[in-house]
Amino acid sequence: MLEARGAVRRLKEYHPPLGGRLGLRLDFNENTVGCSPRVLERLRQLQFDQLARYPERESVEHQVASHFGVDPAGMLLTNGVDEGIHLICETYLESGDEVLIVVPTFSMYEIYAGATGAQVITIPTGTDFSYPTEHLLSRLSPRTRLIAIANPNNPTGAVVSRSDLWRILRAAPDAAVLIDEAYFDFYGESMMAEVASLPNLFVARTFSKAYGLAGLRIGVLAGNTGQMAMVRRVSSPYNVNAVALACLPDALADQDYIRQYVSEVRQGRERLEQELHALKLHFWPSQANFVLGKIGERHDAFVRAMRERGILVRDRSRDPGCEGCVRISVGANAQTERLIAVLREVVRALAPAGATA
Ligand SMILES: Cc1ncc(COP(=O)(O)O)c(C=O)c1O
Repeated sequence: MLEARGAVRRLKEYHPPLGGRLGLRLDFNENTVGCSPRVLERLRQLQFDQLARYPERESVEHQVASHFGVDPAGMLLTNGVDEGIHLICETYLESGDEVLIVVPTFSMYEIYAGATGAQVITIPTGTDFSYPTEHLLSRLSPRTRLIAIANPNNPTGAVVSRSDLWRILRAAPDAAVLIDEAYFDFYGESMMAEVASLPNLFVARTFSKAYGLAGLRIGVLAGNTGQMAMVRRVSSPYNVNAVALACLPDALADQDYIRQYVSEVRQGRERLEQELHALKLHFWPSQANFVLGKIGERHDAFVRAMRERGILVRDRSRDPGCEGCVRISVGANAQTERLIAVLREVVRALAPAGATA
């Protein structure tokens, strides 16, 4: 009987709750108001010919490389950051290699790395979710071939300092160090400028979050040109679809739109953190477009009560170290106002009789 590889059989199934997402979507860290109107205009102008042909990535790749200030030979457009992670794993990992990830973090590192047969070593963060750099360094071995770091991290919103990233990069010259900057726009610090000079550094960015293009599946993987030549060998020449390629230059050109959205998200994040504090709910300060809050034993009921009132949030209580935690994405100002009103109501409704929030 046909059997999948052992490494694949050992993978845990991952089914994010994508079904029936009606309401204000504060559950997947997406843009909540949509992409730039320029992108929608471009979509309306698409001609059949653009769909009939195989997509041609190169010219758009050059425009995107110039936007990010990197050598086009050191940058690849990808089918979202997910594909960038997959390509790194396919390029560098063999069965028996070691991969270091600090948990809780984004699930796809463990899945793609595990599928190669590499051994994924998970290192827990402290209770404050700060990055355990010393612990990570102590786990380096001659077999370490990949270190994946979400910066800011999902689901915690915590960040790793530039000096710690440098320490890791220097200490592991034979490992690919992937800095996943999916939430860069809400944070502002990046390692993108260093990719040319550090041969083991890779930086991933996405257009799924601030740019509002999660459905188009488009991201960027940047690295040293020699390394990226290897990564290109395992990538399909048609990995990014024609619609995404047609829209991306317009999305990048409308930086006013991104600035406005990001500014509202940052204000909203502060408002939400203040509100959680006022409601006496523990939370971890975030540099991304979401906040992780500790709801406690009633996390299930909380998520349900929010949903009943039209707001979707994500239960993260099964993530390591996140017992009782719920992640709440932040959107535009009016949505934050609505979120806060509903949050107050739900906390009041779930409080034990006689208690005041
Ligand atoms: C840290 C991190 N990286 C990558 C992704 C996925 O990005 P993309 O939609 O570009 O595949 C996510 C999505 O939630 C994320 O949180």
